[in-house]
Amino acid sequence: MAKAAIKYVCQECGTWHPKWAGKCEGCHAWNTLVEEVVQSKKSVLPTQLQTQFTSINAMTEELPRLLTNLGEFDRVCGGGLVPGSVLLVGGDPGIGKSTLLLQVVAAYSHHGACVYISGEEAVSQVRMRAKRLNVSHGPALQLASATHVQEIIQAIESHPEKLQIAIIDSIQTLTSEGVDSAPGTVSQVRACTYELINMAKKKNITVILVGHVTKEGVIAGPRVLEHMVDTVLYFEGDRNYHYRILRSVKNRFGATDEIGVFEMTGIGLQEVVNPSALFLSHHEFPVSGSAIFAGIEGTRPILMEIQALTAPSYLATPRRTSVGWDSSRLSMIIAVLETRCGLSFANKDVYLNIAGGLKINEPAADLAVAAALVSALTNTPSPPQSVFFGEIGLSGEIRPVHQTDLRLKESQKLGFETGFFAQRSKIVDAKSTLSQQNLGYAVELLDIYRNQSHIENKCIAS
Ligand code: TYD
Ligand code: MG
Repeated sequence: MAKAAIKYVCQECGTWHPKWAGKCEGCHAWNTLVEEVVQSKKSVLPTQLQTQFTSINAMTEELPRLLTNLGEFDRVCGGGLVPGSVLLVGGDPGIGKSTLLLQVVAAYSHHGACVYISGEEAVSQVRMRAKRLNVSHGPALQLASATHVQEIIQAIESHPEKLQIAIIDSIQTLTSEGVDSAPGTVSQVRACTYELINMAKKKNITVILVGHVTKEGVIAGPRVLEHMVDTVLYFEGDRNYHYRILRSVKNRFGATDEIGVFEMTGIGLQEVVNPSALFLSHHEFPVSGSAIFAGIEGTRPILMEIQALTAPSYLATPRRTSVGWDSSRLSMIIAVLETRCGLSFANKDVYLNIAGGLKINEPAADLAVAAALVSALTNTPSPPQSVFFGEIGLSGEIRPVHQTDLRLKESQKLGFETGFFAQRSKIVDAKSTLSQQNLGYAVELLDIYRNQSHIENKCIAS
């Protein structure tokens, strides 16, 4: 008979402690330990287990990927779903995970048998949603409402048809036999995921798990879950805006940082095929404090508008507010502009915003941020029809970034005529960090506004 033991498990990193403590020894987070009852299993005799080696050159039958025909979803997955893989789709509550996966599975159900298992909603609710979404689904899409993982696995394994995709909404509602802790705790989530992964590999069924995100932005409780699955996708977006972004943060079968853009409408999510147009605001007159960044998200170029505003400050420490971009990076760019270009942001509050509620992680946005800041401070509009990209170093130099051609091509496609960026041959080496040349780059940045000249001006229309 298995013996139950009480352990204290960190809900952040999964470290076990024999006693309760305020601080986790594993990740040093405070107040994250939760009491969990853990069943210790009797170990299986090694004679019953046999590990077999096989040659790396042996032939493996490669199954074709499952295409759902939702182009944005397929692309984020790396060109369709891999049979037998396990995906985790994370996101804030209410962002549209259930809607997305219902559409995905409905779209695929014309090609093969699928099940959608909800632990949160009753079957009738899911059915009503499907009606509202007006999704055309094949006869092979079946629904169930269940929370017991062994029961779910048994139902999937004994399904009369060969199932291709199983959606589990959500992993936090499942419970596994033998684990006594509450649903959603690390032990439960880990045990249930483990069982589902085993089933997926054994039966070659693609399993998509929904995971809720905590307020810290990680999939509820355990980061451990991200290590277990093959692919981790985040569904994000600002609730005040209609569009949503599906981003791959881990993918064993494709590129990461790939994004798919959707718009939430009254009848569910619609794919946005040309997202650049969505994130640019159209000013009738040139305005100061705005610069267009030609960015890359995954493998796709996207143009985004960076907006800056400087206002007189009455605070002892002027405010530096950044929405959609790292605020310490904003402070860095301000420091570079002050020290290397002789600009002064003292007594000025600085606000930076990425239009449309987007988030940018690329350092390549530095130059566009600097351009927007200089434009705001000097109250001069950026040169018309221009895009900016480049990383800025502490010495004020502008470094080239990858995928220049792709960025320029997208800009050209959307009618932009001038690109400001550093070219490969102009990399400044570390030894000359304080040289005239570097200062020259930074000063030229100012010239963009003062004299409408340029750092590296390539006429992309030609
Ligand atoms: P849902 O998929 O239930 O979110 P999650 O599973 O991530 O918690 O999405 C719920 C939100 O989506 C809800 O606030 C309403 C909105 N929505 C629409 O705007 N249009 C629709 O057609 C649907 C189904 C939902
Ligand atoms: Mg949901």
